[in-house]
Amino acid sequence: MSRLIESEAWRALMAHAESLKSLRLENLFADDAHRAETFSASVAGLLVDYSKQRVTTETLDLLRDLADTQGVLARRDAMFAGERINTTENRSVLHVALRNRSNRPILVDGQDVMPAVNDVLRRMRRFTDAVHEGRWLGYSGERITDVVNIGIGGSDLGPRMICDALASQAQYGMRAHFVANIAPSEIASLLKTLDPARTLFVVASKTFTTQETLANAHTARRWFVEHAGSAEAVAKHFVAVSTNRDEVAAFGIDVDNMFGFWDWVGGRYSLWSAIGLPIALYIGMDGFERLLEGAHAMDEHFRTAPMVENLPLTLGLIDVWNSSFLGAETLAVLPYGTRLGRLPAYLQQASMESNGKSVDLDGHRVDYATGPVVWGGAGTNGQHAFYQLLHQGTRLIPSDFIAAIRTHTPVGEQQAMLLANLLAQTRALMLGRPLETVMAEMRAAGVDAETVTRIAPHRVCPGNQPSTTILFPQMTPEAVGALVALYEHRIFVAGAIWHIDSYDQWGVELGKQMAGELLPAVGHAAPGNFDASTESLLGIIHRHWV
Ligand code: F6P
Repeated sequence: MSRLIESEAWRALMAHAESLKSLRLENLFADDAHRAETFSASVAGLLVDYSKQRVTTETLDLLRDLADTQGVLARRDAMFAGERINTTENRSVLHVALRNRSNRPILVDGQDVMPAVNDVLRRMRRFTDAVHEGRWLGYSGERITDVVNIGIGGSDLGPRMICDALASQAQYGMRAHFVANIAPSEIASLLKTLDPARTLFVVASKTFTTQETLANAHTARRWFVEHAGSAEAVAKHFVAVSTNRDEVAAFGIDVDNMFGFWDWVGGRYSLWSAIGLPIALYIGMDGFERLLEGAHAMDEHFRTAPMVENLPLTLGLIDVWNSSFLGAETLAVLPYGTRLGRLPAYLQQASMESNGKSVDLDGHRVDYATGPVVWGGAGTNGQHAFYQLLHQGTRLIPSDFIAAIRTHTPVGEQQAMLLANLLAQTRALMLGRPLETVMAEMRAAGVDAETVTRIAPHRVCPGNQPSTTILFPQMTPEAVGALVALYEHRIFVAGAIWHIDSYDQWGVELGKQMAGELLPAVGHAAPGNFDASTESLLGIIHRHWV
């Protein structure tokens, strides 16, 4: 058994979970008139209510004991101090430095990283201002109106999600587009809509070796040169964001037009770096810096707030509680409103690439559940699709409901309707609809006794599904920055409890390597020596390959 499972704190939580088996959320509220206030907090402009989670004051105390046992605060301090907490890659983990608006020195190997961070921010400002003010023009002297980010994973999901979320802040008439998938239809259909003379491509890749990104970037470059009629014009229309200068130069992008970052920025934590360039081009550099401010406010809270008041710590501990003690296998992320519709996909990478691990920091296989499957989609659409399983399925599914209270685009009563739906769902998931209520309602509606007995069980909703509600006044850059930072730290806390490296992603490599081996067999029918199933699928592909 692992040291974690054997620890006193873990055992106490196991016993506690057993004792809470028959707990009903509505009874927690009945027993404590102040529960809604006690189990909620307001931090960095976010109002977070976790009172509908299956936790009591004792649960949180025991979880904090577990955090003590696992040295979570010491690990937090080590992260902020620039220690190499990503041990399998021997790297620091310093996305917090990218938004360290206080400029407090942060050292890596004795060297303050802040001057380099600020220098890139200054270069981003110079560049985005030049584009917006028409000092950076396309090859034929036209203004840039369309930005195309070519990247994948962390070099795509963050900027894409933030640009959607902050679309109401878009400035200078700029349009932002994103190409990630290697599927040819994605880039082909976008290119058809663009005017090369007014398009700027941002090739974003930390390593600058990612197959999908390089393939799409080469396609974009070929298309551009064909239309512009000269390779010289490329310099005005292609910039790179990367840590790999040599590969950027080898691709043919002038390194003067490259915005750098560092190996201590994980791909899925990189939207705060120059990877955020499309955001700055879309909403302006001031808007981008406001995003950093919001995240920084959450960082400062996480870094300094005592355990009992520390919101990311509390939410991270509740995530551990749900996964490891209550047996929840997933976390549903349910943003209300379409602007945050890409948040579930963004958090899927942030959480699943970070905490989807089964070996601990000492190299031992874990004997407890680690990161949940993160999924979700925008409300209210989801209500008419997958919520049925939340209400009447057999699984425990914790969910996060997220919404801006005011909208930038008021239309009649629709925002009130949106919020009413959010509240209704969290309430319905908590209270459910017991058999007696269903039967009484059916009888009152004049349904005959035989039908009531037969149908009523199908209409019962068990309720008691836990949820957290996150609200903020309006979708501002600050609020979105704080929201994303809250999740990042939550993921950190859960990873620290599980004693895993939340900052590597070795599992992704296997598929990449195999795709490389299979390419000659698919594209050129070169003989390979694969397993029987793969050979059979290759046979089918070849029969239809024209
Ligand atoms: O393959 C996974 C991954 O490494 C992610 O962690 C990363 O965000 C993505 O690929 C893209 O990598 P890069 O920015 O180096 O192209």
